[in-house]
Amino acid sequence: MHKETDLKLERIDGRLSLVKQDTVFYGDFTKLKKRLTHANLTHEMPVKACRIKNKQMPVSVLDATAGMGEDALLLAAFGFNVTLYERDETIYKLLSDTIERAKEDADLLKAVSRMTLFYEDSIKAMRELKEKPDVVYLDPMFPLRTKSGLVKKKFQLIHELEKPCEDENELLEAALSAALVRVVIKRPLKGEYLAGVKPDYSIEGSTIRYDCINR
Ligand SMILES: C[S@@+](CC[C@H](N)C(=O)[O-])C[C@H]1O[C@@H](n2cnc3c(N)ncnc32)[C@H](O)[C@@H]1O
Repeated sequence: MHKETDLKLERIDGRLSLVKQDTVFYGDFTKLKKRLTHANLTHEMPVKACRIKNKQMPVSVLDATAGMGEDALLLAAFGFNVTLYERDETIYKLLSDTIERAKEDADLLKAVSRMTLFYEDSIKAMRELKEKPDVVYLDPMFPLRTKSGLVKKKFQLIHELEKPCEDENELLEAALSAALVRVVIKRPLKGEYLAGVKPDYSIEGSTIRYDCINR
């Protein structure tokens, strides 16, 4: 049982799942398969934000706020080597199980084999890195999902685990010291800059914005 909520982790139909009464949430990379073709990936905003001109692949990306690893999967499917850090134990376990299940799927194996997940606070990890990544990717807040009541209810479970990002200054500072080429920050379109720091440029979508700070 999660300490501050009545959420439980249970294995249901082979999937580690977060359960609260009759609502069940688990990670599922198979739903992203359509987006994983090379042609589609070149239009994905995280890919556009992390690509480095004239740099040979694989570019290395440190995803400092792994969550359920969906952005990282897009990056890994494109060909980036992605190291992920997640500090919430329950989210780490759910994501770790999602990655392990994806390894059994021939369509996902190549992408997930480029993902390495650690259960660790990325601020501490980034301050102690031996090898620096090209890009640090930050997405400290779960977005609000409103498409359907069902999706919303399921995602509310994971929202319950989320703590407000109270250390954005430290997070950005550690990211800036770790990244060799760029720090990429995912924000709501009208959201404030992370830690109030103005980026060099932003890539805007209809609801989301990627703030990019070059090193
Ligand atoms: C919005 S989610 C990331 C969603 C992710 N981009 C995706 O595509 O699924 C933010 C996650 O970052 C984690 N987090 C926040 N600060 C962190 C830190 N300093 N180290 C590791 N994980 C952190 C939170 O626990 C949460 O799971």
